[in-house]
Amino acid sequence: MQGLILAGGLATRLRPLTMVTNKHLLPVYDKPMIYYPIEAMQKAGIKEVLLTTGGESIAQFANLLKSGEEFGMCMYYGVQSNPKGGIADAIALAEEFTHDEPLCVILGDNIFDYNLKPAVEAFEKQKVGAKVFGIHMKMDAKQYGVIEVDDTGKVLSIEEKPEHPKSDIAQTGIYMYDQKVFEYIKKLSPSARGELEVTDLNNMYLKDGNLTCEIIDWWVDAGTSYDELLRANNQVAEKMKKGLV
Ligand code: DAU
Repeated sequence: MQGLILAGGLATRLRPLTMVTNKHLLPVYDKPMIYYPIEAMQKAGIKEVLLTTGGESIAQFANLLKSGEEFGMCMYYGVQSNPKGGIADAIALAEEFTHDEPLCVILGDNIFDYNLKPAVEAFEKQKVGAKVFGIHMKMDAKQYGVIEVDDTGKVLSIEEKPEHPKSDIAQTGIYMYDQKVFEYIKKLSPSARGELEVTDLNNMYLKDGNLTCEIIDWWVDAGTSYDELLRANNQVAEKMKKGLV
């Protein structure tokens, strides 16, 4: 399985912190934010990772992460020209990189310690379809994508930042896709906010009956607000002091 980490976007919600610094380089306790998705890939045994970001930030990431050797992986870098292109627009950049392997995507501002290795191994065997990772949480309306599942765990719907969430399961920024993902992305149209949405992409898999969902237990989307960034810092500090991460 190949890895893709997204570190683009404009990060307007965290200004002025992000006026001259890419959001994913901000600290989360003792490490830059981007280390968390990288270490998640490392723990999952993923050896080749593409990081996408805006042209103005590429040099900083390459300076920090270099060849990836420190993490036991090979790092590649890709420029997303349109910072508002959307998550699916950035995923499209991985088409040649994947060499027909399945793809694990992690959003660069997602902080979690869930071990993805079993899911990676299962997905490599399964080969077709897509998987999303959800978490039960108290949500403000319009904060996240929301996943509705039935009693057996089957996904019934995913809605992007709905006014009235149908469940308490937030869609995290961890996704697994087969090669069909690139075909599906070509069929997407920009949403009302002008982006190619990951939720629209995941709904294409859902419509074809090829989407599963796995629930994880701890996760913070550090990039959404000052409070969530602070929460990520505090929770990582607490876990580290207890020897839990
Ligand atoms: O984090 C989970 C949420 O991420 C999901 O619940 C939502 O369904 C999903 O749409 C997404 O929502 P956000 O509004 O939080 O996405 P945001 O624009 O903050 O971007 C998330 C990450 O992806 C962030 O690390 C920046 C990166 N990104 C984003 C865009 C729009 C890119 O690299 N390129 C982009 O064009």
